[in-house]
Amino acid sequence: MSSATAGTSRGVDVATYHRPHFPPDSSSEESSTLTAAKTDKYLESRLSHMEYAADPSLARGQERANAAGMPKISVSPMQGQFLSVLARGMRAEKILEIGTLAGYSTTFLARSLPSHGRIDTLEFSPLHARIAQENFIDSDLYPFPTIHIGPALDILRDPNGAFASPPGTEEGLPVDERGYDLCFIDADKGGYYGYWLECLRLTRKGGMIILDNAIQDGRITLDKNVEGQHDVSGLRKVYDWVKEDGGKTVLMSGIQTVGGKHWDGFAIAVKL
Ligand SMILES: C[S@@+](CC[C@H](N)C(=O)[O-])C[C@H]1O[C@@H](n2cnc3c(N)ncnc32)[C@H](O)[C@@H]1O
Repeated sequence: MSSATAGTSRGVDVATYHRPHFPPDSSSEESSTLTAAKTDKYLESRLSHMEYAADPSLARGQERANAAGMPKISVSPMQGQFLSVLARGMRAEKILEIGTLAGYSTTFLARSLPSHGRIDTLEFSPLHARIAQENFIDSDLYPFPTIHIGPALDILRDPNGAFASPPGTEEGLPVDERGYDLCFIDADKGGYYGYWLECLRLTRKGGMIILDNAIQDGRITLDKNVEGQHDVSGLRKVYDWVKEDGGKTVLMSGIQTVGGKHWDGFAIAVKL
């Protein structure tokens, strides 16, 4: 869940782009003010599981990332645990993640897999990949995630690479012969449409594709980008693709979220 400060709206046909002020300002110090940030803390205090959000190695991993000067744009603890709920609920055995950062979300996903499962995660930055690798060792993950370093689309489309041969898309095939049970897209927003198409190719029938940052303060409803804010064109192309598909290939829903970060959300699809 990346954050960006509101910018000017040059080129966008809205009178002025105002960053939404809902939920209430999470920096408010007034104890009587209800905020999404406080609510996140409350939920964490009640719901954090020892093998997931409450695992101390995850906090150490975030400290390692901060010390390396990495951006603080991982999913939140409850969002990470939400990914775990989905992965465990569908008994995922094979997961693809696009956008590793320091491996925070990867750890939630890997922890949800059985020991014979596998998880591939793609990351552009060698620094991020190195810190993620250290964090995976610290968290003693098994199965251990495989990090693929480089621009994700190049890796996914490399005709001689690890993702070249489309795996079987039917349900019920052995792990080594079938597509991914779950794909999590959380990298550069402009690349989302390309990642979407690749994930569709690589996911088995009945598998799930999750797009993070799918709402962008509601800017997905604008047909132009706002300067200084994440590119929404890739997301809009995904939603247009789903509309055009007419329900033949996927069933998708978009869920808006508030939280300690800001107004955003997930889009979640199941491949039919
Ligand atoms: C929002 S962060 C991922 C957060 C992570 N999923 C988590 O919640 O812990 C996005 C990551 O995608 C990486 N990234 C950006 N562009 C990329 C690209 N073209 N290919 C692969 N990774 C990319 C960034 O370096 C960054 O580490």
